[in-house]
Amino acid sequence: MGEPEVVLDDAVLNLSGESAGEDGTDTSSPFFVSKKAAAVLKHAILRSYVVPFASKVGKYAPDGRVVYLDGYAGPGRYEDGTPGSPALILESAAQIAEFRQLDCYFVERSRNNFRSLSTLVGEAQKQGLAAHALQGRVEKHLKHVLTAAEGAPLFAFLDPFGLGVSFEALTDLVFGSRTRQGSTGRHATEVLLNFNANAVRRIGGLLTSTKHSPGKPATLSAMDAACGGDWWRKEFLDSANNTEAVNRITEGFAQRVGKAVRAGSWTVEVRNRAHHQVAYHLVHFSRHKDGMWLFGEAASLAQVEWRRACIPPARSDTLFDPIDTFEAEEQERKAQWIKRIMQNVEDLLDRHGDFIVDHHQAQVMAGVLGEARALHVRAAIKELYKSGKTTCNGVGEVRQLRVTRPR
Ligand SMILES: C[S@@+](CC[C@H](N)C(=O)[O-])C[C@H]1O[C@@H](n2cnc3c(N)ncnc32)[C@H](O)[C@@H]1O
Repeated sequence: MGEPEVVLDDAVLNLSGESAGEDGTDTSSPFFVSKKAAAVLKHAILRSYVVPFASKVGKYAPDGRVVYLDGYAGPGRYEDGTPGSPALILESAAQIAEFRQLDCYFVERSRNNFRSLSTLVGEAQKQGLAAHALQGRVEKHLKHVLTAAEGAPLFAFLDPFGLGVSFEALTDLVFGSRTRQGSTGRHATEVLLNFNANAVRRIGGLLTSTKHSPGKPATLSAMDAACGGDWWRKEFLDSANNTEAVNRITEGFAQRVGKAVRAGSWTVEVRNRAHHQVAYHLVHFSRHKDGMWLFGEAASLAQVEWRRACIPPARSDTLFDPIDTFEAEEQERKAQWIKRIMQNVEDLLDRHGDFIVDHHQAQVMAGVLGEARALHVRAAIKELYKSGKTTCNGVGEVRQLRVTRPR
């Protein structure tokens, strides 16, 4: 288990439009002026997930301490004052401070961003929160943070602009350094990472490009290291278009990591607008069923926030109110999800007879994963009960419901 050998970040491939120097002396960061819709989704997921995660797994941890690592932290806040991931997580830490200690490590390479980040972290420390700002590459600080996380649950958020830590660092170092048996309590380990679709499209494009580019072999090797091998090249070349390539490679990556570390995974598409191409996928790895359900709830709630953030501003020259349309569309979406879940439940009853929802999350949520949540599952079961297709009335903890056929 060694240090990752290849540096896989913006220095290799800058996909952000930022100009980050090798020494981290970045000065122009248009990205951090104000927040885009894609970040609304990412931050809403963080906000709705980390508090329930820490509350749950921290119950069995010494002193209720849970470690949080933000490996690509940024400045902490946008220039307009909107919280970035560090400010958001420090708010979460304050929210649960009475019963959990969220011990936060924020790593940032750029000197300018780090300056703002340190100010934010200094303020949090004055409030009595456990927060640390570390300057430099996350690869350099990983071992230190993992040592600090020994005996405590760990949640790592890895959100680079381009390629992130290598597959090996993720599987051998982050997950591998923590006990394999432990999926809960003080051994719980979860990772949420940004798998960049722009990187897949651009680097994949190099495979067929005839243009001479001296950096090409290094960039292709960097992608190999991020994906844990060159398997992604065949996926890219075998895909009919970029959308298919991005989906196949993201899924391939999630499955390979999941298999290597014995974790389940969720992938959530992140776009700036519904009609835009995917900017990145958020991939979540958890070794526990509770984590998979909790994340599903967080992703579903975050999608509502994201759709709301995409509403165009109201125009004074028309009677048409985008908020009304939004509410009507939300109702229509919910109705479709419930219909789909009803179908999934009926299929499960046909295939297995009676079943418990908790044992079939993927099948119950097929087609609506990351969109619908537990309350829609309940609504679907209640509908089926009303029409006499199950004797389960949908009352009680959704995951524990036993869905039964009428005798
Ligand atoms: C997408 S931004 C992070 C945004 C932040 N997570 C948020 O949600 O507010 C990525 C950040 O990672 C920093 N960065 C790039 N390579 C890095 C590395 N190897 N280690 C640590 N930080 C890095 C960049 O300077 C940039 O500030």
